[in-house]
Amino acid sequence: MQRVTLVDVFKHRITQKYLQRSGIHHAVTVAGHAFDLALKAEVDPDLATKAALLHDMGHYEWYRDGKWDYEEYRKHDIHAIKGAERAHKLLIRLGEDRLVAKEVSLAVLLHTDSYLPFELEGKRTKLQEVVRKADEIDEQPLGMHHYKKMDKSVAIQLLNELDQKVEVILDDQV
Ligand SMILES: [Fe+2]
Repeated sequence: MQRVTLVDVFKHRITQKYLQRSGIHHAVTVAGHAFDLALKAEVDPDLATKAALLHDMGHYEWYRDGKWDYEEYRKHDIHAIKGAERAHKLLIRLGEDRLVAKEVSLAVLLHTDSYLPFELEGKRTKLQEVVRKADEIDEQPLGMHHYKKMDKSVAIQLLNELDQKVEVILDDQV
């Protein structure tokens, strides 16, 4: 089966719709960090980069007086739940292997515990921990990392480079 690439995932209309909210810059940057961390942790870089790219696709905008009210947003936040469902649906539509789709979806669901009444510290799998850490590296106070800009063409170029790096690793494992 041919691999569903990060560029395939990125170009899909579902991704385009939902990544605008949380920011393309953040998604692509976290995917890059996830690749590096996956190599160190001996985690599948295909799963790690896909989960990282999609980890915030459940975000919605919370505006008050024309500005995104971050504190108000946090109170109502279930973005990881929405993101996990969207990521799964998207990957299945793209023809992704069902086990891969589930693993990626779970890594999206558990990349944060900010919406849960308990902590996930020490409970995540290696893949889930890679995605959490990759996200943390790019995080800025008050969610400012969601506002950084990146052109779609630049994002595609960076993801294409990342796809090639992932494929080198996967080819080595065969
Ligand atoms: Fe994030």
